[in-house]
Amino acid sequence: MTNAISKVTKNGSSLNVEWRDGEKSNFNFMWLRDNCPTAHDKDSRHRMFNILNVSENLSPKKFLINTDGKLEIEWSEGNHISYYDPDWLRKNCYTIKNKQKYISPYQLWNSSLQDNLSLISIKHDEIMNSNEGLIKWLELLHQKGIAIVKNAPTEKKSAFPVLNRISHTRETFFKTPFEVINIPKPNNSAYSSHALRNHMDLPWFENPPGYQFLHCLINDAKGGDSSAIDAFAVANYLRNNEKDIFETLVSVPLKFRDKDYTQESHRNFYAPAISLTKDGDFNDIRFSVATMDTLDCHPDIMDKVYKAHHRFGNLLHDNKFQIKFRLEPGDIFSFNNRRILHGRTEFDPNSGHRHLQGYYMDRDEIIGRLNFLKK
Ligand code: OGA
Ligand code: ZN
Repeated sequence: MTNAISKVTKNGSSLNVEWRDGEKSNFNFMWLRDNCPTAHDKDSRHRMFNILNVSENLSPKKFLINTDGKLEIEWSEGNHISYYDPDWLRKNCYTIKNKQKYISPYQLWNSSLQDNLSLISIKHDEIMNSNEGLIKWLELLHQKGIAIVKNAPTEKKSAFPVLNRISHTRETFFKTPFEVINIPKPNNSAYSSHALRNHMDLPWFENPPGYQFLHCLINDAKGGDSSAIDAFAVANYLRNNEKDIFETLVSVPLKFRDKDYTQESHRNFYAPAISLTKDGDFNDIRFSVATMDTLDCHPDIMDKVYKAHHRFGNLLHDNKFQIKFRLEPGDIFSFNNRRILHGRTEFDPNSGHRHLQGYYMDRDEIIGRLNFLKK
C-alpha cells in the first residue's frame, strides 16, 4: 500500500490521521459520512446517500484501522459502517490540498508573440488525424487563450468537422456559423466594413461564449487586418502596478446591453470588467466599447469608474501588449472570448471580397475535453 495510515485520533468534530510518511490530515465527520464509498450509485455515480438524513451531531461510535489497512468507522446514527481506502483518503485530503500553492494554467503573453506566431499555429489536418494534434490545439486555447488553425478548407461551414473534434458549438441568435460580411443596414458593427476596436463578443450575456472561432474563407479586400490582445496579461500588469485601478475594475459591475435592432428581446447584464477565480486567478474579462451601456453606478464613484475604464481600455489597445496579423483563407482564428480581445482594421469593400464565418463554444467543452484526453 502506498499510503498507509499509522494513527487515528478524535479531535472535536473530526478525525486526525497520521500517515506512515509523517504527513497529517484532518477529516471532518460529516465530510467522511457524506463521502462513504457506498454513498454513490455504481452506474450513474450520483450520490444516493442524503446527508440531511443524519443529524449535525453525527460522530463515530468506533473507529480503527482494520486488517486491510482501511479506516473503518461505525457511525452513531443510521446503523452504518464505512470503510475508507487510504489511497482515496490521501488523494482527496483537503488538509494537504489547501497547503499547496496554486499554479495558474495560463501563459500570459504580450506583443513579443508577434514574432513567433508559429508558436500558436497548428495545421488543420494534424487536429483531424491525431489526438496529439487535438491536445496541442486545446492546450494552446487553454494556456495561451489563442491559436490559429492553418490550411483548413475554405468551403462554407467547413469548420464544423474540426470543431466537432472538440465538441458541439454554442448556439446564439446569430446562428451557427454567423456570417461576418459587409451588409447594408448592419445590425452589428462586425457586419460592416468599419474598424472594430479590440473587444469581446456578447458581453451582455450572463454567460458570454467561452471561445470563438473565426474561419477565414475570403480576404481579398484592402484592409481588414486582425488584432488580438491578452487581457489577462493587461489585468495582471494593473494588479502589479496600478492597484487602485485594478481594484475598481474587479469590484464595480459595469452594464452591457445588446443593441441589435432586429431582436425581439432586451438583453442586458451587469458584471465587473475583471473577475477572479476562487484562487485569485483571472476568470473573465468584460470589455466592449461598442456595447457597454449607459452606466448608472453611484455618483460618488462614477469618476473613478470612468477613469479606470479609460486606463484599462487604453492598455487594451497598447502596442506593447497587442499583436497584429492578417488572416489568410483557410485560417481559423480561435480564442478564449472572455480573455483575448479581438479587433480588425477598416476594409474597403470595393477593393475585393472579405468573408469570415464565426462559431462559438462554451469554455466547459474546451477544458472538459482537454482534461479527458490528458487522462
Ligand atoms: C466579429 C468580429 C472580426 C473580423 O465578427 O465578432 O470581431 O475580423 N470580426 O471581422
Ligand atoms: Zn467580435
